[in-house]
Amino acid sequence: MRVSGPRETNTVNQPIRVPLAVTTSGKPEENLIRRARQAARDWKLPFLPRRKKEPLARLLETGAEALLVFEQGAVRLWDGEGSFSFNPGMAHLRRLRILSGQEDDALVRVAGLRSGDAVLDCTLGLGQDALVAALVVGPSGRVVGVERSLALYAVVSEGLASYDHGPASARVEPVYADAREYLRSLPSGSFDVVFFDPMFEKPKKSQPAFEMLRRFAEYAPLTPETLEEACRVARRWVVVKGSKHSEDLKKLGLVAEAGSRYTSVIWGRVPGGEGRAENYVSPLGGPSLPTGESFADEAPARSCGINSRGER
Ligand SMILES: C[S@@+](CC[C@H](N)C(=O)[O-])C[C@H]1O[C@@H](n2cnc3c(N)ncnc32)[C@H](O)[C@@H]1O
Repeated sequence: MRVSGPRETNTVNQPIRVPLAVTTSGKPEENLIRRARQAARDWKLPFLPRRKKEPLARLLETGAEALLVFEQGAVRLWDGEGSFSFNPGMAHLRRLRILSGQEDDALVRVAGLRSGDAVLDCTLGLGQDALVAALVVGPSGRVVGVERSLALYAVVSEGLASYDHGPASARVEPVYADAREYLRSLPSGSFDVVFFDPMFEKPKKSQPAFEMLRRFAEYAPLTPETLEEACRVARRWVVVKGSKHSEDLKKLGLVAEAGSRYTSVIWGRVPGGEGRAENYVSPLGGPSLPTGESFADEAPARSCGINSRGER
C-alpha cells in the first residue's frame, strides 16, 4: 500500500484510489498529524497528508474511496455519500433509563445481564449495545466488542476511547477481528454471555449513521458453526438479535415466536456451557446445540434508527 508521495495513475490517467486511508482535518495541529500518522501505522492504512484547507472531496476523488479523518476530538469516516463519527446517541438514552431504574431494555432482559458479568459482543457495530451492557455489568464486569470492518472499528474504538463511561460502568474493550476466528481463540466458558447482532438480510430505511454502517459493515451471515463455537465460549447464554422480516434466526434453528405488531426486532438465545443439552438438532445435523428459544420483543418500535429500548 502506498503511504504518501505523488499519486499513482492507471493507464487512462485516472488516479488509483485505495479503498481506505487516513488523513486529518484541513487545519491540523502538529500533534493531530502525529496521532493520525500513528493510527495509520497501527491500522496498516496509507496516510494521505492534507494540504492546508485542501477540500476533502479532492482527496476522495484522487486518493481514497473512503477516509478516516482525524479532527480535534473525533475521527470521522467519510466517503462520497456522507460521513459519520461516533455518537453514543440512543445508547446514552438507554443508559439513562437503566440508571433511573427502568428495567425494560430488551438486551438486558434477554441476556439476563447482571453486575460482574463478562460479555462478548461479537458484532460491535456502532457500540450501542456494548455500552448498555457495560453499564449493567458495571466496573467489576467486562465487555469486549469485536468488529470486522476496519473503518467502523477505527471510528468506534476512537470514540469509545474518549467516551466518558462513568464510574458505574465497565469500559468497552474494542477488538478488531473476525468474531468467528476470535471465538475459536478463546477458552471454553470464558464469558458469561456472547451476543450477536448481525446485519439483517433485508435492509430497511434507517438513520444516516446506520446507512454508513450498511456501506462499511461485514455482511457474512451468522452460521450454526459460529453459534456452536459461541456456546462453547459462553457460560450462560448466547443471545442473537434478529428481524422478523428475515429468516436469520430460523436458519439457525431458533424458531421465532409470533412477533409483536409494533416492532421488527426479535431475540433468540441458547444456553451456553453447562446448559448444553443433547436434545437439540442443529441445522448442521446431529445433536450439538441446546434447544434454542426466541422472543419477540413487545416494545413499540420507532420508525428508524435504534430506539430507546435497544431496537433498530
Ligand atoms: C447490526 S451491526 C451491530 C450494531 C450494534 N449491536 C450496535 O449496537 O451498534 C452489525 C455489526 O457487526 C459487524 N460484523 C458482522 N460480522 C462480523 C464478524 N464476523 N466479526 C466481527 N464483526 C462482524 C458488522 O461489520 C457490523 O458493524
